[in-house]
Amino acid sequence: MKVTIVGAGNVGASCAEYIAQKRIASKVVLLDIKEGFAEGKALDLFQTATTLGFNTSITGVTNDYAATAGSDVVVITSGIPRKPGMTREELIGINAGIVQSVSENVLAHSPNTIIVVVSNPMDTMTYLALKATGLPKNRIIGMGGALDSSRFKTYLSLALDKPANDIHGMVIGGHGDTTMIPLTRLASYNGAPVSHYLDQPALEKVAADTMVGGATLTKLLGTSAWYAPGASVAYLVDSILNDQKRMIPCSVYLEGEYGLNDICIGVPCILGANGVESIVDVQLNDQEKQLMSESAQKVSAMNAALNDIL
Ligand code: LAC
Repeated sequence: MKVTIVGAGNVGASCAEYIAQKRIASKVVLLDIKEGFAEGKALDLFQTATTLGFNTSITGVTNDYAATAGSDVVVITSGIPRKPGMTREELIGINAGIVQSVSENVLAHSPNTIIVVVSNPMDTMTYLALKATGLPKNRIIGMGGALDSSRFKTYLSLALDKPANDIHGMVIGGHGDTTMIPLTRLASYNGAPVSHYLDQPALEKVAADTMVGGATLTKLLGTSAWYAPGASVAYLVDSILNDQKRMIPCSVYLEGEYGLNDICIGVPCILGANGVESIVDVQLNDQEKQLMSESAQKVSAMNAALNDIL
């Protein structure tokens, strides 16, 4: 199984690292536009193979899409990350042109690939990749919900003071500070509703912390996150390549599901060998439906900025 990661920055390199360490694919190609950059990152990563005990080959190339040929999955991380105080939405002008040309180049060499979009604003970039390539909707997947859900579970585990892996929950909606919807009503501590242990203000604080989970650390670090985004990509690539059919919230094209149309936005998906194999209806209550509709309106308004390109 071959995975190409376009963009060898922090997120791209972390994806490669986790995919190799977890033995998810046999071959990883890192591609970047900066001369020698992906080659250098790939060498550094590959030099960990003997100490970490993986056999995944990791190679780097400068803008050589021929080297990506035959990829089963391509992860697009290209574009600029946000700086402190920026929203993901502010990146749209620069990143749209990049994501469009990258997705076309990728497809020219890997016509059967599944594309995972990480670049921000992620829902809009996923929509752009879908429209620019004309690929069927099961083969274009935006990563945001997986990351937001991992942040949600982290904050729940902190609030509950319980182990992170005993927590279950998901975030749907857009991958933006004001568009994501942490589903606190459905979250559980190993099956027991978290509302049994946390009062409403505590649950609201967890939701609020989750929504700015990325922004909070961006302020601390001076640039956007990479460990959790990289791990989230590896998690969903694993479900695809190893046909695990896990339910993972991702941004995918909707045609009537959740009452929405012509939009890519986060919903729980079954990810397997065919990419998005189905969308799960988690039966939102009226309040959650309202939040989803407001989130979709904001994402659609952002997609309108693509009108000049598409
Ligand atoms: C984040 C970026 C990757 O949320 O969107 O950290």
